[in-house]
Amino acid sequence: MKGFPTEERRSTIIWHMLDDRGLRDRLPIGWIGVDFYYHESIGSTNAEAIQLAESGAPHGTLVLADAQTAGKGRAGRRWITNPGTALAFSLILRPSNLGIDQWLILFGLGALSVAEALSEIGLQPEIKWPNDVLIDGKKVAGILVNSNWTGESVNYSVLGIGLNVSPEAIPDDAELDFPATSIGEALGRSINRTDLLIAILKKLKVLFQQVNSSDLSNAWQDRLAYLNQEVVVKKADGTVTGRLIGLTANGELKLIEKSGNETVIGYGDVSLRPIEGGEKRKHISSQ
Ligand code: ATP
Ligand code: BTN
Repeated sequence: MKGFPTEERRSTIIWHMLDDRGLRDRLPIGWIGVDFYYHESIGSTNAEAIQLAESGAPHGTLVLADAQTAGKGRAGRRWITNPGTALAFSLILRPSNLGIDQWLILFGLGALSVAEALSEIGLQPEIKWPNDVLIDGKKVAGILVNSNWTGESVNYSVLGIGLNVSPEAIPDDAELDFPATSIGEALGRSINRTDLLIAILKKLKVLFQQVNSSDLSNAWQDRLAYLNQEVVVKKADGTVTGRLIGLTANGELKLIEKSGNETVIGYGDVSLRPIEGGEKRKHISSQ
């Protein structure tokens, strides 16, 4: 299903599948969701948003699904979105002044928007660099950014966010290489998905204005999991251990190794873990 043929169709589907408080009436949030597509079930909202962007869909186009059958994580990994339990959406961004060395900041934009929205409902989220939001040390949300460049300038980026809302969203242990949780489990009560989505979109709208400022990387850094702790970072070409000391202005990770050397780690299929516990990944692939 692509979009909604009529206004009536749009409101009916949303009422039944996701919304009980009039999502349609609450969009757009500024430039976000002027163009809005809802799918009861889809392969991947990121894949769909990429197709829309390739066809010229504008900045702010929003693709939302109740369930995904082929949700994507990084490096071809899977993201599970069970029906009726989660938020899964993708936002097309056409940033006018984002340099090729700055695109990592879009992970921060997504993670921080989720974290700030969750803070407002009384949770204490942390961000596991680069793309996971944790509550009580467990993963509650993941961010995936796909970008398309010509030379040094970005044509479009797709910012995808998956968030476990109710406990039924959490995949079986066999699917997980890191512990997972849900908002419902963390809060001890259920929460309205539409309210949560709107809260995140409002944060995205505000924080997007900061993608070129150190304010965003500073706020991201303030919420980093394992800050000032010993961590191990697994990369395709080896492992780095050291104390996590923060982020560069572009959102790269800074570590101090035992030797005293400062190392900066950029984007790749990197896997960050605290030194004690948590490590279950058996296979690291490059991308
Ligand atoms: P790392 O933690 O090493 O940085 P990652 O585990 O975050 O990497 P990603 O590609 O970022 O890897 O995320 C995909 C992974 O998330 C999957 O391999 C699976 O382990 C886990 N996962 C899939 N669906 C969910 C979900 N709904 N909730 C929590 N975790 C999930
Ligand atoms: C990760 O932790 O690797 C990132 C997971 C990102 C999942 C979201 S759900 C909405 C969007 N569509 C996808 O296929 N992936 C992202």
